[in-house]
Amino acid sequence: MTQTDDRTGTGLALFPPAFRWGVATAAYQIEGATAEDGRTPSIWDTFSRTPDRVHLGQTGDVACDHYHRYAEDVALMRELGVDTYRFSISWPRIKPDGTGPVNPRGLDFYDRLVDTLLAAGINPMATLYHWDLPQVLEDRGGWTARDTAHHFAGYAEAVYDRLGDRVRTWTTLNEPWCSAFLGYGTVDQAPGRAEPASAFLAAHHLLLGHGLAARALRAAGAREVSVTVNLTPVSPRDPQDRHDVAAARLVDGLHNRIFLDPIVYGRYPADMLEHTARFTGLGHILDGDEELIGAPIDFLGVNYYAPTHVAAKVGTPSSDRFPGTEGVEHPEPDLPVTAMGWPVEADGLRRLLVRLARDYPSTPLMITENGAAYHDSAEDGRVADAERVDYLRTHLLAAHQAIQEGVDLRGYLAWSLMDNFEWAYGYDKRFGLIHVDYDTQTRVLKDSALWYSGVIGRNGI
Ligand code: FCB
Repeated sequence: MTQTDDRTGTGLALFPPAFRWGVATAAYQIEGATAEDGRTPSIWDTFSRTPDRVHLGQTGDVACDHYHRYAEDVALMRELGVDTYRFSISWPRIKPDGTGPVNPRGLDFYDRLVDTLLAAGINPMATLYHWDLPQVLEDRGGWTARDTAHHFAGYAEAVYDRLGDRVRTWTTLNEPWCSAFLGYGTVDQAPGRAEPASAFLAAHHLLLGHGLAARALRAAGAREVSVTVNLTPVSPRDPQDRHDVAAARLVDGLHNRIFLDPIVYGRYPADMLEHTARFTGLGHILDGDEELIGAPIDFLGVNYYAPTHVAAKVGTPSSDRFPGTEGVEHPEPDLPVTAMGWPVEADGLRRLLVRLARDYPSTPLMITENGAAYHDSAEDGRVADAERVDYLRTHLLAAHQAIQEGVDLRGYLAWSLMDNFEWAYGYDKRFGLIHVDYDTQTRVLKDSALWYSGVIGRNGI
């Protein structure tokens, strides 16, 4: 699908005709208005108020004030020409006590947003859980409690009931690895419990919540159901060294397969069951759970940012992000890094997609997040973010290459529409295509936004 562009004589990498182009955001990162219209605190409100957890003690109280400025933001999306907008819904706006009565004023906001998107010709793609668990549910055990999975499905039904006539595409969870392993296994993300066993319990209950919600959405008539996972290709330092290879397999298990296999095949990989049992036993995985988790999906959402490199080294203590990985080190690869310190390797995306198509062949894929933070500055109304353009260009070319190699990739959503609250990094890291001045809430299209808009217009690079 590479053809010669007549005007320039250079190759134009064209994407398939129905390829979906979009941008992504998440509720807590952009909305603000955390105490309006009946919303109660989420675990991120609590976490961001806990000393030393978030950069400069910043919170999502105001963020991009999208709750009030959504119409302006949709107009900007229209200017970019995107056909899909992936946003998330805030559970504590919809069910302020986590489980009980629905708060119509919370749903009203998403109602207005969806109507505004549709009027602008943009498909709304709703994610039901992008990390903002109602604090009241965390107080009852959070994702370590099995009930939370059932409450999640009840909340999903309530949202579908109001928006299902207009929202075609539904995503249950965003990045369960982060929710479980960062949220419960470390202090890096909310709720920040740093309990390895809890991380494994949370992983299972998140997956169960996905399965129950997927089933409920489907039964209610949802047309497209998906789940988004953050994946990374894991490479051994020396592919000939069997210890390095075993280390890579373990980290691949804990990052990728522990989620992918139950979602796609309805069963955990044997090595991950064994690994989980070391921390929690297996009593929390009940008969029938795996089958529920394997509820059919229409596509798998893939978030990719960086590759992972590992090596075996005797005596290395376990990383808290990957419990039980004693003897595994994470050497810094010799690659350029973003402002997050994340290594940049576009070919990692190609390898990942090709691997998914090989190991999970009947599941169509969509890139639901990809992007980079750099130290941007707005000068005279312009943000010259050449590094971000380069990141996006090389990753899109890698995605294009994967399609050439036979991968069924349906779309690409850039992270993010605009600069926003980057979790523990607060407002220090900017991932947006659009620059946000947090003092004035002024939005400025960065060079990368203009470039991306051109790609969408041509359906190619
Ligand atoms: C992903 C999250 C998203 C954003 C990007 C940079 O892990 O899903 O909210 O923070 O990273």
